[in-house]
Order: sequence, then C-alpha cells, then structure tokens
Amino acid sequence: MTDSTDRDPYDLFAEWMKEAEQSEPNDPNAMALATADANGIPSVRMVLLKGIDPRGFVFYTNTESRKGTQLLANRNAALCFHWKSLRRQVRVEGPVEVVTDAEADAYFESRPRESRIGAWASLQSRPLEGRWELEKRVAQFAAKYAIGTVPRPPHWTGFRVLPSRIEFWRDRPFRLHDRLVFLRAEGTDGTQTGWTTEHLYP
Ligand SMILES: Cc1cc2nc3c(=O)[nH]c(=O)nc-3n(C[C@H](O)[C@H](O)[C@H](O)COP(=O)(O)O)c2cc1C
Repeated sequence: MTDSTDRDPYDLFAEWMKEAEQSEPNDPNAMALATADANGIPSVRMVLLKGIDPRGFVFYTNTESRKGTQLLANRNAALCFHWKSLRRQVRVEGPVEVVTDAEADAYFESRPRESRIGAWASLQSRPLEGRWELEKRVAQFAAKYAIGTVPRPPHWTGFRVLPSRIEFWRDRPFRLHDRLVFLRAEGTDGTQTGWTTEHLYP
C-alpha cells in the first residue's frame, strides 16, 4: 500500500472489497455509519453499502428513523468498514445527499417483496409495544399490496456519503500499521480537482 499514493481511492476500495468478499464470512459490505444530531451528539450503527461510484457511498434506510432524522438535520456522516479476516479498515467522511427518486426506486424494486412490505410495516426506531404489533402491520400492508407492485414508501430512500476523506488502514507487525489518507483537493474556484494523499503515523 505504501506505493498506492498515485491511485484512485475508489479503485483501491474496489480491490479491498473484492478481497473482503472472498474472505469475510458474511456481509463484507457492512459498515458502521456515524451520524450526529443537530447539537453534534454522535450515534453509530451498522448499515449495508448498496452502491458505490465516483460520487460516493450509498446506503438505504428509513428517513424517519433516528439516523434518518439526524442526517436530515445535520448532513454529515462517517463510515467505517472493518474486515477482520483481512485485518483492514477503511474510514470515509463527508457530507451526505439524498439519492434521486429514480435511484431509490430502482434499488427498492430489486428487493424481495417481503422486504418491500417490511419497509412499509416498520416504523423504524420508534417504540414497539410487542412483536405482535409489527406482525399486524406486516399483515396489513401485505393485504393492502396483495395485488400488483409494492411502491416505495415516501419515507424510505438512500443517502450518499460524498467523501472528503478516505483512509485505508492495514495491519502491520508490532502495531506499526500502514495508514494512507486520500483528501479531496479543491481548486481556488472551489471545484474539486482530484485527490491528495498523505501517510499517517499508526
Ligand atoms: C450488518 C447489519 C446491516 C444493517 N444494514 C442496515 C441498512 O442497510 N439499513 C438500515 O436502515 N438498517 C440496517 N441495519 C440496522 C441498523 O443497524 C439499525 O438497527 C437501524 O437502522 C436503526 O438505526 P437508527 O435507530 O440509528 O436509525 C443493519 C444492521 C446490521 C447489524
């Protein structure tokens, strides 16, 4: 990795993800998502990476959930992948945007029917009286959408983290780990001009 400074971070990420897909027992695309509320108080939970392109990293969720309301109030996030089998970590930080309706629709339609019903039934992050209440809501929405397609709920969409910083961390003996950081470079007119890199002490 020490000779990776002239590389595109997305290429390097794709390479590491490919290796993780071969070695992780499950969910190599799982990542910790850190958000903060309007007062800057942080919270973190796992989500699944469902899309990546040169703009950023996409995951899907309920916009009325705790993370959803936090992201709509404070549009900054951090992600952390940890592949134990590889002893590697990738950290991503930056502002977030909501994906387009077309993008969210396309992904929603690719999900199993039961998951689409579940997206309607779950009042994600709000108090639940008991499991029966959730099962009742699943049955209600399954009946409502028994015929035809299940539309995407208005409160269910994707967020894209637009990285301003991506750090690749690789285990090395005696805790002398490799850390390579890619920072979004901006021209004097504020437009993004690519990436600069730096190595960090472990
Ligand atoms: C491996 C793993 C992957 C998960 N993926 C997602 C996901 O992609 N989207 C999501 O909304 N919740 C996902 N969850 C559940 C979240 O961790 C969390 O419990 C839920 O989204 C509510 O979080 P919140 O109350 O902070 O909004 C996942 C949990 C695990 C353990």
